[in-house]
Amino acid sequence: MCGISGYTGGRSVYNIIINCLESLEYRGYDSAGIAFTAGNRLSVIKCKGRIADLKKKASTRKINAQAGIAHTRWATHGKPSSLNAHPHFDSSGRIAVVHNGIIENYIDIKDKLLEKGYTFKSDTDTEVLAVLIGHYYEKMAIEKAILKAAEDITGSYAIGVILSDSPEKIIAMRHDSPLVIGIGVHENFMASDVSAILKYTNKVIYLQDKELAVISPERIEFLNSKPHDKHLPVKINYTIEQAQKTGFKHFMLKEIYEQPKVVSNILAGHITSSDKIHFDISGLDIKNIKEITIVACGTAYHSGLVAKYIIEEFARIPVNVDVGSEFRYRNPIIKDDTLFIAISQSGETADTIAAVREIKKHKVPILAVCNVLGSTLTRESSATVYTNAGPEISVASTKAFTAQITVMYLLGLFFAQEKGIFSKTRLTSELNIFKKIPNQQKEIFKQSRKINAIAKKYLNFGAFLFLGRNINYPIALEGALKLKEISYIPAEGYASGEMKHGPIALIDEYRAVVCIANDSFVFDKVLSNIQEILARKGKIIVIATEGNRRMTEFTKETVFISKTNNVYAPLLTTVVLQMFAYYVAVLKGFDVDKPRNLAKSVTVE
Ligand code: G6P
Repeated sequence: MCGISGYTGGRSVYNIIINCLESLEYRGYDSAGIAFTAGNRLSVIKCKGRIADLKKKASTRKINAQAGIAHTRWATHGKPSSLNAHPHFDSSGRIAVVHNGIIENYIDIKDKLLEKGYTFKSDTDTEVLAVLIGHYYEKMAIEKAILKAAEDITGSYAIGVILSDSPEKIIAMRHDSPLVIGIGVHENFMASDVSAILKYTNKVIYLQDKELAVISPERIEFLNSKPHDKHLPVKINYTIEQAQKTGFKHFMLKEIYEQPKVVSNILAGHITSSDKIHFDISGLDIKNIKEITIVACGTAYHSGLVAKYIIEEFARIPVNVDVGSEFRYRNPIIKDDTLFIAISQSGETADTIAAVREIKKHKVPILAVCNVLGSTLTRESSATVYTNAGPEISVASTKAFTAQITVMYLLGLFFAQEKGIFSKTRLTSELNIFKKIPNQQKEIFKQSRKINAIAKKYLNFGAFLFLGRNINYPIALEGALKLKEISYIPAEGYASGEMKHGPIALIDEYRAVVCIANDSFVFDKVLSNIQEILARKGKIIVIATEGNRRMTEFTKETVFISKTNNVYAPLLTTVVLQMFAYYVAVLKGFDVDKPRNLAKSVTVE
């Protein structure tokens, strides 16, 4: 949802801001631009398209700058075009602004500025903000002008501003959109997320809500801070390699292959040598929880749906799951014996955060399950369990999903342990099954050729149906989401039992149906569905448990997973579906890591 980078210091400003921006391209990629200062000259280069196009355009220029800001865009207001690309100037041309977020009242502000005689070149809300800042800058210092403009606007923003009058300065401010400052020696950085600046520094300060930072090479000054805002640099403990492809063709493939390690790390982090599960959430009164409500969006919502099966099965606590955007406008019933859990990879998803704020009004506890240290969600929740999956760069989520559900399994087991539902022996036996999962995921990688061959065969089918039952129903939803996200093939996920209530009308020889049919207490029911599909000439791809010979009677297109308890099967079946979606998209020649119209972190409503 737009990426921002900035640098002030003695090294090549252009190389650094472009390099950082390239790591942020997953946040948006329809246009890109830079602004830089040299002496008292402020210049902008921008274009429609990707950062590679911007580099081509900039290659004819000799750029010798003191400070610079850069932006990669995911269009909200105005189509992708060179005019709408950031940075935007104020009317005097002395100030350039990059922005991530949405200024909701920009039309009102624009009207007032038009009345005052200002004119606009683009369709964006960002240009309105730039002109507004410029308007105030006529009468006051730039820091004050930005703070004054911030008082006038509603919506979310992370902004970077540079100006010809102070060529070494970058001014950053945020509200509900992420922005992090990187600390260097005689140089400083700014970016939408840590992975962008990790190559240069691992010391960062997270800018707080409505706080403004004046960044120069030798110092950073904070304005508008709240008394509890801290400015002590945080040391980031993941490495630059974790944010690079390291030999894989795409981030998505790398992230799929990282899953066994991610699962092992999470298990190691929460299980003691005597098989007790621990979570540092002492502030939450787990024993007295009567109900759980999970809020999340996209893939994280599917994690919530898997968690419903897990927690109800293990801890016998009723679980409701809702998408953030529905929860907040539904006048939800918020009871104080309910534990609210918000799941989010980025911790910046606007709809999830809005739901959390709605819950907070009722003063009930919220547990965040999140991957990004210091993100807005973690700051606004009562407690956080980190998924520690490392940076996820590919827009389509894979390892973050597996990490989320791994945490939810452990939380389910933890609730059962704390409520005294599970004996020590039962817990140990559950953990013994769970601990086999990472190696069982690696077994799936050995079938990559087969999955690729199936993808090749089904590549040109016009539509897919994904069926799963019980805890694999949300995995069918997630499998369909992965396929549509990166290969643009219409795909629907359904509970297999629901097939006869509608989707069966779609089945014919042109329809491919992916059936999750692992060994479980519902296997015979799923088998009946498969027969119903075959009777109508539908083509099927099946995920079955190794050794299940019956399946091969029906189709050659079977991918096998290792034997495990049905409840843990999603940790395996999801990997097969991720790989299937990946190979289809690669074979179709699509940009797997940056699918069209999508963004990794959706910081607007
Ligand atoms: C976007 C991403 C999805 C992600 C969803 C929620 O739509 O493309 O992959 O699942 O946002 O993001 P979150 O960061 O809250 O998990």
